[in-house]
Amino acid sequence: MSSIASSAAAGPPPGMKVRLSSNESPYGPSPAAIRAANEAVAEGHLYPDDQSVELRQAIADEAGRPIEEVSVGNGSAALLMDALAYLARPDEDGTVGEVLAFERSFVVHRLGARNAGARYVEAPDGGPATVERNGYARDPEALLANVTDATRVVVIDNPGNPTNQHLSGAELTTLLAELPDRVTVLLDEAYHDYASGDPSYATYGELDVDHPRVLVTRTFSKAHALAGLRIGALTGPADLVAAIDGWRARFNVTAPSQAAAIASIGDRDHLDTGVARTLEGRARMTEHLRELGVPLTAGLGNFVTIELGTASQPVVDAYAQHGIGVRPLQPYGMLEQIRVSVGTPAEVDAFLAASDEVLAEVPSRS
Ligand SMILES: Cc1ncc(COP(=O)(O)O)c(C=O)c1O
Repeated sequence: MSSIASSAAAGPPPGMKVRLSSNESPYGPSPAAIRAANEAVAEGHLYPDDQSVELRQAIADEAGRPIEEVSVGNGSAALLMDALAYLARPDEDGTVGEVLAFERSFVVHRLGARNAGARYVEAPDGGPATVERNGYARDPEALLANVTDATRVVVIDNPGNPTNQHLSGAELTTLLAELPDRVTVLLDEAYHDYASGDPSYATYGELDVDHPRVLVTRTFSKAHALAGLRIGALTGPADLVAAIDGWRARFNVTAPSQAAAIASIGDRDHLDTGVARTLEGRARMTEHLRELGVPLTAGLGNFVTIELGTASQPVVDAYAQHGIGVRPLQPYGMLEQIRVSVGTPAEVDAFLAASDEVLAEVPSRS
């Protein structure tokens, strides 16, 4: 469990036809976002608005919150790093704090804790999937059992990557009701737009519980299809948001990125259509793989997490022979699993046709 380089390098080799390795949207940005970004490039000699006022206002309006409760950054990964750097730094007397997360939590949580000089503590999850059930079940009690006087931040990817698991609204409520007020809760909702239609999913604002230090990160990299432009949002109590914003690099969100994100918020149809197609593709992938007898975790993100029962790299290589890039998960200590993003209908067809051959011999089927 080491370097983010291992995840950054896992895209398909050049020339590979189908890229299912990075949980991107295969549908591309909204045409309005492309136009807006291009227009902003023509003004590229000017610095961007360091405060991203128009974009923050658009995000705040959508969320029904005041602008002071919203900041933006270079993707939610940068916001998570900034938030952890600020929240989990050692006390002035050198006392080291703890960042608590579920096992196999998104790798940036670990990196953020490391950069902050904090200890990273993991609460165990329920382990891999079987043919009968999803894997990596998360229990709020397991997190609570690991809270100590040193715990500064609890960070939860909800839904999680790569585990594909989430805490339900009821479970989040239990957790927040029992967590001490001094602990900051960082909810990483990168897959919110894919998850939000599921009855078991809820974001903080929908819960019947108050905790004074809940922060939520979202991204424009997934359903908004703007991963290459690097835009994320942080929402939460205004004083915390302002303090964390003070730790970011100045002028970090470029003008084309701000313009694209604003336009993308305005094109809800584009987002909804992409999400609906992705959910259809995910259902098709899940059903077909289950028919093959392959254990997998069917979560709420735009991907599936597959148990191979054998070392993943030869399987990743075999998919590559079919022109399909899938993600090995070694940085998570998941040596016998792969993560596969949901592509277009044609990409899903290609993946499933390849799977009939590639997965024919893997032990997880027996
Ligand atoms: C759970 C989770 N959080 C955060 C991110 C980071 O996304 P970005 O930095 O592109 O906003 C990802 C990206 O895959 C993710 O899966």
